[in-house]
Amino acid sequence: MKHFAWALTCTLAVATAPAQGAEITISCGAVGQEREFCERAASAWSQKSGHTVRIDTPPELTNERYFKYLIELGDGDDRIDVYQIDVIWPGLLARYMVDLANYVPAEEVAGHFQTIIENNTVDGRLVGMPWYTDVGLLYYRTDLLEKQGLAVPQDWSDLADMAAHIQEAERGEGRKDFWGFVFQGAAYEGLTCNALEWVSAAGGGTILDEQGSITVNNPKAVLALGRAANWIGTVSPRRVTSFNEEDARAMFQLGNAAFMRNWPYAWSLLSAPDSPVAGKVDVMPLPRGGPVGQSAATLGGWQLAVSKFSKNPEVAADLVRYLTSPEVQKDRAVNGSYAPTIESLYEDPEVLANPLFAKLKPVLETAVARPSHVAGENYMAVTARFWEAVHNTLTGDGSAADNLAALEDQLRLISVRTRRVRENAD
Ligand code: GLC
Repeated sequence: MKHFAWALTCTLAVATAPAQGAEITISCGAVGQEREFCERAASAWSQKSGHTVRIDTPPELTNERYFKYLIELGDGDDRIDVYQIDVIWPGLLARYMVDLANYVPAEEVAGHFQTIIENNTVDGRLVGMPWYTDVGLLYYRTDLLEKQGLAVPQDWSDLADMAAHIQEAERGEGRKDFWGFVFQGAAYEGLTCNALEWVSAAGGGTILDEQGSITVNNPKAVLALGRAANWIGTVSPRRVTSFNEEDARAMFQLGNAAFMRNWPYAWSLLSAPDSPVAGKVDVMPLPRGGPVGQSAATLGGWQLAVSKFSKNPEVAADLVRYLTSPEVQKDRAVNGSYAPTIESLYEDPEVLANPLFAKLKPVLETAVARPSHVAGENYMAVTARFWEAVHNTLTGDGSAADNLAALEDQLRLISVRTRRVRENAD
């Protein structure tokens, strides 16, 4: 505990820092190896620049982080200079961030995937520099598939069948805690990401369409969620409905599950020498919705933004430039399997030596975005209603059809209320 308290306010002081050096505080995540990587690169920048960096560790769940940041920023809090912001937040937090185009040369910005730069540009202002991108992937135990003479699953029903088969065989050999499939099933943003993959792969859309119409209450979405509900207590443990990324990884990495849905960061940890499943794991795109359906992976990822309340925006932006540079992104890719946002790194032989990256590029190119742009300021309300409907379905509190019908009503209310507020403001 003592160590943790220290970690929250760790200062990477540099003995040689000139007296005029500024102190910059960055709030970066701590899921998997994130904190170590953030600390290492911040420390390297500190050595180079002569400024010091403090690392702030926010809550683990992205939606909890968002509300913490929103409260602080809404209060004009200047304690954090650099924020790590989720791909779904630029529109929500834009008003609190500086325009990084004033600090980062255009040619440097142009090296990043255009789609992410567009995502991070709000009303012509570059709200965040891309740090790493994310997509949902399927991890599986090569040894167990081989033992059962199974090829990799093609669609979600296939996956459930194989998960059941392997689970039965493993339990038959005495591994009572063995399960077929783990994922992020707690009631939070991670469940929105998982469920969007099930629904979108089944042809059930992306909650709202590009015009903002509510499309989520449809028979294909009902089918996809109903199918997922059948996994609970059969091929997935009941407690999966309280799992986040790290809970799923812990179970899979300990050797207690055949399949896992997770983000790229898990690859490095699963294949590390001290991992019980090292050499027994591979990764592939998520299964298709059905025999003729498509595979859908939710687009995630994180950016670095500079608070407009920062007392040293120039120095803070310099830290952002360094952390998002090819040098740092390459280290994170090679050693931590964090997916770079700089396109040319996908041709770098050292990056490609990590087998994950050759597989990743096509998945990234076809990834499905959450409806954050079209929902605008309502995104957090939309996603929270969606993950609640999914969570209720998974925990047996109402059927998929009833929960999606209720969700449609709730989303309609949100949009009616927003329209009224806008009309009153006009
Ligand atoms: C990952 C993704 C992020 C997403 C989160 C959900 O961190 O990069 O975009 O919101 O998972 O848990």
